[in-house]
Amino acid sequence: MLSVVIPTYNEKDSILQTIKDVTKSIPKGYAFEVIVVDDDSPDKTWKAVNEHKDERVRCIRRKKERGLGSAVLKGFSEAKGDYFLVMDADGQHDPGIIGRMLKQIKDNDFVIGSRFAKGGSAKNWSRQRLLFSKAAAIPAKSLLDAKVHDPMSGFFMMQRKVFEENQEGVKGKGFKILLELLVFSEKKRRVKVSEVPYKFRPRKHGESKLGLKVLIDYAAMLARLSLHGRVTRFLSVGLLGVFVNLGVLYLLTEQAGMYYLLSGLIAIEVAIIHNFILNNSWTWRHRKKKQGFMKRLFSFNIVSLAGMTINIAALWFFTDIIGLWYLASQAIGIALGAALNYIWNDLWTFKSK
Ligand code: GDD
Ligand code: MN
Repeated sequence: MLSVVIPTYNEKDSILQTIKDVTKSIPKGYAFEVIVVDDDSPDKTWKAVNEHKDERVRCIRRKKERGLGSAVLKGFSEAKGDYFLVMDADGQHDPGIIGRMLKQIKDNDFVIGSRFAKGGSAKNWSRQRLLFSKAAAIPAKSLLDAKVHDPMSGFFMMQRKVFEENQEGVKGKGFKILLELLVFSEKKRRVKVSEVPYKFRPRKHGESKLGLKVLIDYAAMLARLSLHGRVTRFLSVGLLGVFVNLGVLYLLTEQAGMYYLLSGLIAIEVAIIHNFILNNSWTWRHRKKKQGFMKRLFSFNIVSLAGMTINIAALWFFTDIIGLWYLASQAIGIALGAALNYIWNDLWTFKSK
């Protein structure tokens, strides 16, 4: 059975049409339910749904809470299906692809209705909104192992059991519930995702609720998800590498009697290799990597050197030119070097197939 969850806020002019379209798009004979989760809309969307007499359709009216993400979670908690489908009420998501999504969900954990996969589009958008949306997706993609073109889609299907296994800690604050579910699901294992392209349509009635608050929530979510996952792993590896570096330097100098500058060089390379191995097998563990092993190792070495160069350059620049205390400049240098390393390794060294 399929459970269709539709979050609504002031969608009385769209919701019934959307329910009709969805009902028509589900293959004949396929069992389904539609759960509208409405946050006590002033326009009485809940009333319109309740007056629509169809035992497969029901409305949950939340009086105390608000928010798209948490509404979706509420819908999931009441849903009975093996598969969950999330979709907007305003007609912007094309129900015509539901059949294809249903076919693909059998072999996937998630199937995403995608504006940015080949064949999809968001044509009615201004160039500005399109650019903005694509830019906002970059950090989101860097948190994921699976290759996803549209990780912020509000139109997706997921397996009930994947939700049940991974829901712990999922908060559903803001609009980007899909991204949060993906990141949490990837904590345990590689997640299988497929995308079905569709054309994002213009809204006919009412207005978008996407505003500044949504953006702030999104930034907060990125920060929280980073700390939950890859960024924390990356930083821990780096920290561990510092101790490896110091340990090798000490051993080679004190025990092997090497000249300290030579042991220093060897210590740096040993630390780089150590970091590479851990990042390769742990930080970006579930990603299907495009580059071969040697290429990755080479790329990792190059960016480590580039990072040190930036570090030194920043030490000089902020101390000599800006006039900061040299320890503060070094801290900035380390942060810049780490950021460069993370971004390069994500986009290049460990990029996905
Ligand atoms: N229950 C509830 N509570 N529903 C809400 C709330 C809320 O606070 N805010 C918005 N919704 C419902 C809307 O009524 C609509 O059905 C759906 O969530 C999407 O809201 P829109 O305001 O239409 O968002 P959008 O079109 O700008 O963006 C949507 O599409 C994008 C592309 O797929 C969202 O789904 C984005 O997350 C998504 O990236
Ligand atoms: Mn919309």
